[in-house]
Parts: sequence; structure tokens; C-alpha cells
Amino acid sequence: MHADIVVLPGDGIGPEVTAAAVQVLLAVAKRYGHAFHFNEHLIGGAAIDATGEALPAATLEAARRADAVLLGAVGGPKWSDPRASVRPEQGLLAIRAALGLFANLRPVAPHPAAFGASPIKPHLLNGVDLLVVRELTGGVYFGRRERSDDRASDLCEYTVAEIERVVRRACELARARRGRLTSVDKANVLETSRLWREVTTRVVREEYPDVELEHQLVDSMAMHLLAKPREYDVIVTENMFGDILTDEASMLAGSLGLLPSASLGEGRVGLYEPIHGSAPDIAGRGIANPYAAILSAALLLRHSLGLDAEAACVEDAVAGVLEAGVFTADLAAEGRAVSTREATIAVIDRLQHDCVAVE
Ligand code: NAD
Ligand code: IPM
Ligand code: MN
Repeated sequence: MHADIVVLPGDGIGPEVTAAAVQVLLAVAKRYGHAFHFNEHLIGGAAIDATGEALPAATLEAARRADAVLLGAVGGPKWSDPRASVRPEQGLLAIRAALGLFANLRPVAPHPAAFGASPIKPHLLNGVDLLVVRELTGGVYFGRRERSDDRASDLCEYTVAEIERVVRRACELARARRGRLTSVDKANVLETSRLWREVTTRVVREEYPDVELEHQLVDSMAMHLLAKPREYDVIVTENMFGDILTDEASMLAGSLGLLPSASLGEGRVGLYEPIHGSAPDIAGRGIANPYAAILSAALLLRHSLGLDAEAACVEDAVAGVLEAGVFTADLAAEGRAVSTREATIAVIDRLQHDCVAVE
């Protein structure tokens, strides 16, 4: 198959981990006889430096025309002045909104080989396999912002239609898994959460009666996620709660550098990115964990290109190198860490060895 993939490296470790993911995709293409074409474009701080804008029009146009978008991360201290009029993160929010990517899938399936990197006891991690579906284009991220000298405000808004579409997507995903949905809100305090709970209850009752639904308040969810993570299948929640709970969930897997994501809408184009940020503290040193970006490339193969076997092959290759103890510094016990490049080569070697080649 032929595919056009737009690559948005962004800032900090973004270019380091997207380069790794592109190399893996090239190896997949070679192995299975596909033609993937990569076009790099600017986003975030890199785009601000070059053009003055966090999401240049050329980047968005290219993304709209592409089959899929692979993104690294945006942001960093250089662009973090609170008085700055344009910020890297605005570019990310703008591309998510412009492409209508309302459902952000963040799978969390800790690998036994990385249990040692998690602060949670291994017996609690055994068999954990959950999927957070984070609403991505609404809520407090996109409400009206106001600021005066002595007052600031961020409005949190949701419409029925915005809640319905993401809950439907979560229900479809739950049906293909263990059929259980946990909806997370703060309905004891927030009006948007009361609407969220009402709409979720109705959609599940009327359209997905086979899906088992429970509601959970976000504060106790933050606790249950660590105390009994195995209980959860699909978790659906609003934008900011999903952002926070998934960084927390990364500690089940052992590192932020292990969690991928897929951002999907009703449209054709999907955007794939690790859930981590630009990691300014380790950027430029060649030591970032590339597995989250590589696993995001696997999600790209599955969700945008329909290449299920290739996606599974990449996931198996990452599982294989974890089993073999190929750990970057975030996962390794002191002294045994490999570089980004070494980890990437290990994944590619395994791919070439284990994946079914095209005759
Ligand atoms: P971060 O996710 O960048 O880093 C948090 C910690 O995790 C750091 O210690 C970092 O070194 C480590 N880490 C993250 N990814 C890693 C990887 N692949 N390998 C090894 N270690 C890794 O969060 P932060 O420091 O709070 O934010 C830094 C910047 O990134 C901010 O400007 C923020 O806005 C931005 N950010 C961007 C995205 C995105 O582009 N999707 C996501 C989160 C944060
Ligand atoms: C993420 C990031 C972004 C978010 C920021 C950088 C805007 O934290 O992708 O998780 O909050 O969505
Ligand atoms: Mn985040």
C-alpha cells in the first residue's frame, strides 16, 4: 500500500523520538512491501521560531491532505514566558481542533518486563489492560479565557453532541474488548460533569445496552487507578481529567516514555503521538525512550492505514525488546541503559527477524 504520512517533530525530544518511529515505519514498509512517504512540517516552538506561528497554515494543509500525522511533542522553557502572546501548546490544540480529533485513545498495558520500573507492586500490575478515551476538543482547554491584572478565568463548556460522540466511540471500543465502560467525572461539583453523566447514561442505555457502565468521580478514580488497575477496561472522560489520569497511568507501565496515543475524529486523518511532552530535562542527549513514539506508529498503522498485522508486529517487537531488557534510562536500573538509537535498532532487528516477510 501507498501512504502519505506527515511528520511533525516539534520540540525537545520530539525530533529524537519521531525519527525513531519513522525508522521503524520504514522497516515495516520494506518488510511488507509498502510505500510510505514522509513529509516533515513545523509545529510548536520550532514553528514559532521559523514563522511566528505555532501552527503554520502549510502544516495544517499538509496534515489535511495526508493519510496520517505522526507528532513528537511541543513546548519548552524557551517559549514558556507567561506573558508570551503565542505558545507552542496552542499549535497542538489548534491542529487537534482543526482536524476534528475529538477522541484520544491512550492504551495502558504494562509489560511484565517493565514491572520493576513501576512504583506499583507487581501483583497489582499483572493483567492490567485498560484504554483511556480522552475527549480532546472540548472542555476547559477550549473555553473562553480571560485575564485582567487581578483576575483570570477559563470557561469549561460541553455540549450534548460533544459528549455523545466521544461516548459512542468509547462504547464501540468497549464492545471490541471486555465490554466494560467507566465514565469519569466530577458530577458532585461541576455542571458540565452532571451533563456528562446524564448523556453517558442515556447513550449507553439506549444504544449500547450490552456495555456495562459505571460512573466514577475523578478524585477517587485517581486512587482506584493505582489500587486496582486490573478492574478497568475502557475509561471515558473529559479533556483535562483524561490528560491528568493518563500521566498517572503511565506509572503503571513504568514510564511516560511507554504510552502511545491515537487521536481520531469522524474524518479520514488521524494524529498519533506519545502522551509525554518535550522532556526539556533530557532533550538533545539521545537518551529519550522512543517506545511510546514507536507504539504510536503502530496505532497509526492500525487505525489510519488498516494494517493490523503490521501494527501487531511493531507492538510484538517492542514487547520483545522489553523482554530482552533493552531499556533506556527511564526504565533501566542504574548503569544498564541504552540510547534512543540503540533501542530503535533493537526494535528494527526484532521486526526483521520476527515479522512475516512479503514474498
Ligand atoms: P514531559 O512529559 O515533557 O516530561 C515529564 C518527565 O518525564 C521528565 O522528567 C521527562 O524527562 C520524562 N520523560 C518524558 N518523556 C520521556 C521519554 N520519552 N523518555 C524518557 N523520559 C521521558 O512533561 P513536562 O516536563 O511537564 O513538560 C515539558 C514540556 O512539554 C512543556 O512545555 C509541556 O507543555 C510540553 N508537553 C507537550 C506534550 C505534547 O506535545 N503532546 C505533552 C506533554 C507536555
Ligand atoms: C498532552 C499534553 C497537551 C495536553 C498539552 C501540551 C497541550 O499534555 O498531549 O497530553 O494537555 O493535551
Ligand atoms: Mn498531557
